[in-house]
Amino acid sequence: TGTGFDIRRIGGRIGAEIVGVDLSADLDSALVTEINSALLDHKALVFRNQELDEAGQLRFASLFGELTTAHPTVPSVEGRPEILPVDGDEGIRANHWHTDVTFVRTPPKASTLRSIVVPPYGGNTLIANTAAAYRDLPEPLRELADKLWAVHTNDYDYADRAAPKSEKAAEHRKRFVSRKYRTAHPVVRVHPETGERGLFIGGFAQSIVGLGPSDSRDLLRLFQSYVTRPENIVRVVWTPGDLVLFDNRITQHYAPDDYGDLPRLLHRVTVAGDVPAGVDG
Ligand code: SIN
Repeated sequence: TGTGFDIRRIGGRIGAEIVGVDLSADLDSALVTEINSALLDHKALVFRNQELDEAGQLRFASLFGELTTAHPTVPSVEGRPEILPVDGDEGIRANHWHTDVTFVRTPPKASTLRSIVVPPYGGNTLIANTAAAYRDLPEPLRELADKLWAVHTNDYDYADRAAPKSEKAAEHRKRFVSRKYRTAHPVVRVHPETGERGLFIGGFAQSIVGLGPSDSRDLLRLFQSYVTRPENIVRVVWTPGDLVLFDNRITQHYAPDDYGDLPRLLHRVTVAGDVPAGVDG
């Protein structure tokens, strides 16, 4: 590219490694524009071996917009209100498909994850392309999805999920719902920068507006099955010092809880987003 980094695609439909950028350097606005345009094209970008510190991650994330507080209910890293410690030992294991914080009115537009401690095996992050999922839907289902709204909440049906595996996980779950949020968003979100349509559902989407629990569940499962098709997913295998940037307006992610008691610590910093728009605005 003009600004001198390489874009190496890693999945057929989503994901690229960006090679040749030092994120701890001062990045000029032309470079940031190039990275943003790679993000719009590939939806998830992996920057290997960056060795950023906390301040460096905050600085990099803030190139893409205002930062949000770490999380509406989960405490941040001490003294760093914008950094969420994704710590497996603390029971923070996001092993369900979701887009970050969709239960608020303006969910973050992008997330950065920085790997600090990664297990020798397992503990990967899967990221799915929700625009490809939408395009895969047969026409009649696309037309149906276009018209629907879903209610998202952090107080989802825990009876549906596996019981927490540890005391820490149980505490985390309690803290997560210590204040309850509910927000309706369109099931099909139009990306404000590209105009692409994507399925905007995931783990916090609990019901479809106007439908009962059983129809809601069946429809959400059906739409979600297109998101989680292997073709639409890239799997990030972490090494310490990596930074991954993904576009929450058009992706979901999942962190398989397959690393037992091995340590895993990532830091998450999110960039503020807008009110999700549907096909009718
Ligand atoms: C998250 O859902 O933000 C964390 C993802 C991860 O642990 O890989």
